[in-house]
Amino acid sequence: MSTVLAFDVYGTLIDTQGINEQLQELVGDQTPTFSQRWRDKQLEYAFRRSLMGAYADFSQCTRDGLEFVDRALQTQLSDNDKDALMATYGRLPAFTDAADALARLADSSKLRCVAFSNGSREAVNGLLEQAGILEYFEDIVSVEEVKRFKPDPAVYAHLHNRLEVAAQDVWLISSNPFDLIGAKHAGLHVTWIRRSAEAPFDTWGGEPDMTVSDLNELVDRIT
Ligand code: 2OP
Repeated sequence: MSTVLAFDVYGTLIDTQGINEQLQELVGDQTPTFSQRWRDKQLEYAFRRSLMGAYADFSQCTRDGLEFVDRALQTQLSDNDKDALMATYGRLPAFTDAADALARLADSSKLRCVAFSNGSREAVNGLLEQAGILEYFEDIVSVEEVKRFKPDPAVYAHLHNRLEVAAQDVWLISSNPFDLIGAKHAGLHVTWIRRSAEAPFDTWGGEPDMTVSDLNELVDRIT
């Protein structure tokens, strides 16, 4: 029997707040609001597209979220500004603990590790490569293979089927409560990376099987 750790990408390994420095130059004091609403809208569009049966590449959800927030906050970004923000989104940094924790995991365990994301295989490959952490994953599983987005049960079923293991032999590692609840609903085990002590978990959908404050604590607990 083999256990697989499936790492969520955006918000778990890769820091979506890494866009804020560039946003600061463009929208100044509105940066925290802009950044949070952009991320929320990106995910909302993915949820809606899945429900509508209108799958598009996740980068389309990201672009559409950007366009919406620019309109809602009346920030009047130019097409060039938006193109530049999208380009930066394709090379966001990893969280500072990611490389160290993944290297420790590779040294001290035989657990299989994959990246599992709403992002396309190409986008995730590029992000992990430029962040220097691609080597720690045996594979990338993208929702594009089933044309649904998290938390559709089909994406979690695809994940464990593709890995040729039972649902309960996969641990989803994620900072995103909606992802964890979706995975638990589909029969996976889940670990919440709760990077902020103030981050609330949803009040329904069950509790994570494990909660840690960062990826190094995860490695401490499982090796
Ligand atoms: C990911 O799938 C949920 O955005 C997150 O990488």
